[in-house]
Amino acid sequence: MKKYKLAVVGVTGMVGRTFLKILEERNLPISEIFFFASSRSAGQKITFQNKEYVIEELNENSFDRGIDIALFSAGGSVSQKYAPIAAEKGCIVIDNSSAWRMDPSVPLVVPEVNPEDIKLNRGIIANPNCSTIQAVVVLKPLYDKYGIKRVVFSTYQAVSGAGMDGYKDLENGLKGQAPKKFPYPIAGNLLPHIDVFTENGYTKEEMKMINETRKILGDDSLRITATTVRVPVFNSHSESINIELEKPFELEDLKNTLKEAPGIVVQDDPGNNLYPMPITANGRDEVFVGRIRRDESVENGVNLWVVADNIRKGAATNTVQIAQKLIEYLDKE
Ligand code: A2P
Repeated sequence: MKKYKLAVVGVTGMVGRTFLKILEERNLPISEIFFFASSRSAGQKITFQNKEYVIEELNENSFDRGIDIALFSAGGSVSQKYAPIAAEKGCIVIDNSSAWRMDPSVPLVVPEVNPEDIKLNRGIIANPNCSTIQAVVVLKPLYDKYGIKRVVFSTYQAVSGAGMDGYKDLENGLKGQAPKKFPYPIAGNLLPHIDVFTENGYTKEEMKMINETRKILGDDSLRITATTVRVPVFNSHSESINIELEKPFELEDLKNTLKEAPGIVVQDDPGNNLYPMPITANGRDEVFVGRIRRDESVENGVNLWVVADNIRKGAATNTVQIAQKLIEYLDKE
């Protein structure tokens, strides 16, 4: 079995730290590994697989040592600048930022949905937005079986999705301190505002959900609308997804279709108060679905409640899963 030189960019961040955990759990075939962050963290020590490493400051020469795969999670501007530099040097970047997602030459991948797109990469593969990932894992089996006419997303997103600073705003806010990351307190509040507002009145987060879902499902004409909301939950995003299917369905068949699909756990037993929640999704790699019920206000409508750990499946796990698939393909070359 081949072994690969890996790099992690943004290793001190919320997602970066989780990359390490997941790389350890999944035991990838790594020959060497390098860790990068900003000058603020350079020189700090980090432990990976019981070995100590020194964090390096990312610079233009960081990839001059035959790195095969780099996992990036250091924000859009770092990816914008450094992903092409890494790719130019023969490294394949799997990027967690939004910088490259909508670039037509960059595959946008959720391994349960469109793994084959990985093969189309020209040096950069994008990891979708956290809210999009958990949504498409659930939409894909329904899209394939019944066809989808229209989707309405309403999200309830955890503060960890806004990085370390978002997390601290809730922690400190609960002690009565003023927010630094969010424009208003998040403790005891919620903000119908994730990422910046765009000209059409939607936020960028909402537009990401719309555009990325279309790209991943390969259907530019899919009708989708979204409202994304930050809630005072530390971790794991929840989503209400209302779907109008093309074809009629039996509720039991639809539930079974979800149960059989990869990466999904159905938790749906209202009689026993069983439904997905952030506290039960935390630390897990699957997408949890419950509250599965007919939307009786339209033909072929269904409502779902979908919860996933946004730092794991919504970011780090999905990125590492892409790396694993990529390695599978590279091994065959
Ligand atoms: P650092 O800790 O040195 O600032 P989060 O989104 O959770 O806040 O994490 C952001 C990650 O991106 C951190 O690891 C941070 O490193 C890293 N980062 C920020 N700016 C840069 C940069 N210019 N070069 C490399 N890494 C960066």
